[in-house]
Amino acid sequence: MNWIVEKPKQRIVVMTGAGISAESGIQTFRGANGLWENHRIEEVASPAAFSRDPVLVWNFYLQRRRQALSCRPNAGHLAVAELEKWIVSAGGDFLLVTQNVDGLHSRAGSGNVIEMHGSLMTSRCTACGQIFPDKRTDLELPPRHNCPEKGLLRPHIVWFGESLFPGDMERIECAIEKCDMFIVIGTSGIVYPAAGLVNFANSLEKRTVCVNKEAPANVELFDTFIRGEAGKELPQRLFPRKNREGDG
Ligand code: OAD
Repeated sequence: MNWIVEKPKQRIVVMTGAGISAESGIQTFRGANGLWENHRIEEVASPAAFSRDPVLVWNFYLQRRRQALSCRPNAGHLAVAELEKWIVSAGGDFLLVTQNVDGLHSRAGSGNVIEMHGSLMTSRCTACGQIFPDKRTDLELPPRHNCPEKGLLRPHIVWFGESLFPGDMERIECAIEKCDMFIVIGTSGIVYPAAGLVNFANSLEKRTVCVNKEAPANVELFDTFIRGEAGKELPQRLFPRKNREGDG
């Protein structure tokens, strides 16, 4: 068996997309039954949509919040969390970058995580800017913050047309610069800047691996492509789990 990560004392960056949560029962965005098949992106996931109809946008995100809370991490999330523990306990470095907003990686035990598109479980006040954990599923809409301005709350999500949160891209690029391997799991490779990170890794001659159910749009940019479902492939191929005690 060729493991994707053979030794723990390394610097690894993993990036995930909706595909890793598919086996937990969370809809992906594109393709048959994808979330964007039933919703026009610009009607629910853009600043213009929110100014036009905050109640519609909140209903969409509350439905997704309820769905994420009712789902559980799968074997793919758990394998990524175990990889981090294996690496960190051997003195290596690990960063998980996820485009997912469902919180399943943290629930699986991942520690060093950048949620580059935000989180369904976090809200932000449009008046005072406060960002806070928010798992409420029953809200009077549109929700207001308890700050003096009684500001309108919004989901802490990076919408189309918005930039990533300050500092995130710098942290991600810095980790890729230092890494030995960049592993990308369950993403279609068409939404930027996430899709462009493999180009950045290649420009630094890093080893790149992709695990995906179907070939992503940028498949030719990876050194290795493993076709398969994350929940099945990762437990078997990500790292030598049986030997991890004392290895390295
Ligand atoms: P997509 O829905 O575009 O792509 C999901 C990818 O996962 C596809 O390439 C599938 O082949 C693959 N896939 C499906 N099931 C899988 C499984 N069990 N194991 C492995 N791979 C599987 O989702 P993303 O690429 O994550 O952004 O989408 C990127 C961004 O576009 C999202 O973060 C979201 C969306 O619009 C925002 O909301 C800002």
